[in-house]
Amino acid sequence: MIENGTKNKKALHIEDLSKNFGGLNILDQLSMSVTPGERRAIIGPNGAGKTTLFNVISGELKACKGSISLFGEEVIDMPNHQRARRGLARSYQKNNLFLNLSVLDNLALVLQRKHNHEGNWFKHRSPKAFPLLYKEAESFLESWNLAKKSHVKVAELSYGEQREIEILLGVAADPKILLLDEPTAGMSVAETQHMLRFLENFPVDMTMLIIEHDMEIVFGLADRITVLYYGKVLAEGTPEEIRADSRVREVYLGSEVSEKYA
Ligand SMILES: Nc1ncnc2c1ncn2[C@@H]1O[C@H](COP(=O)(O)OP(=O)(O)OP(=O)(O)O)[C@@H](O)[C@H]1O
Ligand SMILES: [Mg+2]
Repeated sequence: MIENGTKNKKALHIEDLSKNFGGLNILDQLSMSVTPGERRAIIGPNGAGKTTLFNVISGELKACKGSISLFGEEVIDMPNHQRARRGLARSYQKNNLFLNLSVLDNLALVLQRKHNHEGNWFKHRSPKAFPLLYKEAESFLESWNLAKKSHVKVAELSYGEQREIEILLGVAADPKILLLDEPTAGMSVAETQHMLRFLENFPVDMTMLIIEHDMEIVFGLADRITVLYYGKVLAEGTPEEIRADSRVREVYLGSEVSEKYA
C-alpha cells in the first residue's frame, strides 16, 4: 500500500485493479504509478490486457475491483466524461475520425466539446460561437504546422496523416494525461519514424502513456516501460532495465530485439 503523500504526487496511480470477462481475469490485481510529465510505454504480447487497461482507466469499461486516481483524486466510480474533465484524453487502436469532414471541422467538434462543460455534443449553441471556435481551431493547426491541411477532407489524407490528426484531436482538448493506443499500428517504416518525431515534440509537461508494439517508438520515447503479461505487471523499469530483463526477453522481446536497442 502506497502512502497518501506519494499517491498525491502521481499523475496516475492504480492499485489492485481487476477486470474479468466471462470469468477470465483480464486485468489481475494490477498496480502501477506514473509521475507527472513522464512518458510511459506499456508493452506486452497480444491479449495481455493493454487496451483493456486503457478502457478501464478512461472509464469506458468499469473495473471489477481496485482503485484509480488521477492527480491524487479517486476516479474509479466516475463516468468517462468526468475523467476527461480532470484532464484525461485518449486515442484508439483504430481511427475514430469523421472521414467526410475536413481536418478543421473534426477539430472544431473536439473544441466545441472542450468548451461545453455539460459534455453534451449536440446541445444547441449560438451560431455566434462558431467563428470563435473555428478561429481557435485554425490557430491550433497553425501551431502544429498543419494549416495547409485545414480544409482537406480526412478521407483524402494518407493513413499516417490520419493517425497524427487523431492524436492531435486528443491534444487539442489540452489534457494533462494522454493515453495513446498503438499510434503506429499499420504504418510503414517511414510513417513510424515521422510519428516518433511528431510525438517527441509534444508538450514536456503532458503525461503520456503509450501502448506500442514498435520498439523504435518504445525505446525512442519512453522514460519508463511497463510490461504486461496475462493482466499483471511482469516488469517495470527504465528502457535499459527492461532490455536486460531475462523474463521480458523470454515472453516478449526476444534476445534479437533486446540487443538491437542495447
Ligand atoms: N469486451 C470483451 N469481452 C470479452 N473479452 C474481451 C473483451 N475485450 C477484451 N477481451 C479479451 O481480453 C484479453 C485482453 O484483450 P486486450 O484487447 O486488452 O489485449 P491487448 O494487450 O490490447 O492486445 P493487442 O496487443 O492484440 O491489442 C483478450 O483475450 C481479449 O480477447
Ligand atoms: Mg490492444
